[in-house]
Amino acid sequence: MDKSQLVKEVFDSVANCYDIMNDIMSLGMHRLWKEKMVSSVHFKKNSKVLDIAGGTGDIAIRIARGEPSAQVTVCDINQNMLDKGRDKAINSNQLNFNWVCANAESLPFEDSEFDYYTVAFGIRNFSDRKKALSEAYRVLKQNGQFVCLEFAPMHYQNEIFTKFYDLYSFKVIPKIGSIVAKDKGSYEYLVKSIREFPTQTNFKMEIEEVGFKNVEFHNMSYGIVALHIGTK
Ligand SMILES: C[S@@+](CC[C@H](N)C(=O)[O-])C[C@H]1O[C@@H](n2cnc3c(N)ncnc32)[C@H](O)[C@@H]1O
Repeated sequence: MDKSQLVKEVFDSVANCYDIMNDIMSLGMHRLWKEKMVSSVHFKKNSKVLDIAGGTGDIAIRIARGEPSAQVTVCDINQNMLDKGRDKAINSNQLNFNWVCANAESLPFEDSEFDYYTVAFGIRNFSDRKKALSEAYRVLKQNGQFVCLEFAPMHYQNEIFTKFYDLYSFKVIPKIGSIVAKDKGSYEYLVKSIREFPTQTNFKMEIEEVGFKNVEFHNMSYGIVALHIGTK
C-alpha cells in the first residue's frame, strides 16, 4: 500500500478517538506543545493563516483565541478529521474558519496568499515532503512565516531515557491504541513515522532548500518535539 493510502486509512480509523488518544498517549503534553507553538508566533491583526493538516482544529482554535481578527483556513486531506474539527470549532464558538479538504502537496490556493503557514504533527505523514514545503513557500507572502511543530526522532545519549521512551513508544502506545481506539496498527504506524522523520538539523536543511530564510528550531521536552520556524 502506498503511504498516502495508508495515511488516509489511519486517520479515517482514528478520527473519532483522535483527541482523547492524544491526551492519553502524550499524558496531556500535546496541549502544552501546541500552546507553545502558537504563543511563539506574534500573529498580526487581520492576518491570513493557513493551518495545514489541521485535523480536528486544535491549532486553528488556539490561534483564533489568541488573535481573534486572524482569518484562519484549516486544510486537511481527510474529511473525517475536518468534520470532527468543525464540530469542535462550533462548540468553541469559532464559527469563521474556512475548511478546505486538500493535499498539502498540491494546494488549491493562489501564490502569496497567506501571512502564516502552520502545521502541527502533520508533515511526517506527507508522502512528498519537499513538494509540500515548496507549496508552503509558494502560498506564503513575502516575509510570511512557516511554523511547524513535529515529533523528532530520538537521538538521545541518555540510555535509561531512551529505553523508557522506546518501551513507551513501541509497546505502550500500540496497546493503548488497541484498547481505546480498537486499532493497534494505526498507532504502530504513528510511532514508526516519528522514527523515520529526519533529525532537527536535517529537517532545517530541507526547509532551507525550498527557499526559506532565518530557519531555526527549538526543542521542547528534551527534543521529543521540535518547533521549526522559517521566513519567506
Ligand atoms: C496527527 S494529525 C495532526 C492534526 C492536528 N494538526 C493536531 O495537531 O492535532 C495529522 C493530520 O495530517 C493530515 N494529513 C496527512 N497527510 C496529509 C496531506 N498530504 N495533506 C494534508 N493533510 C494531511 C491527516 O489527515 C491528519 O488529520
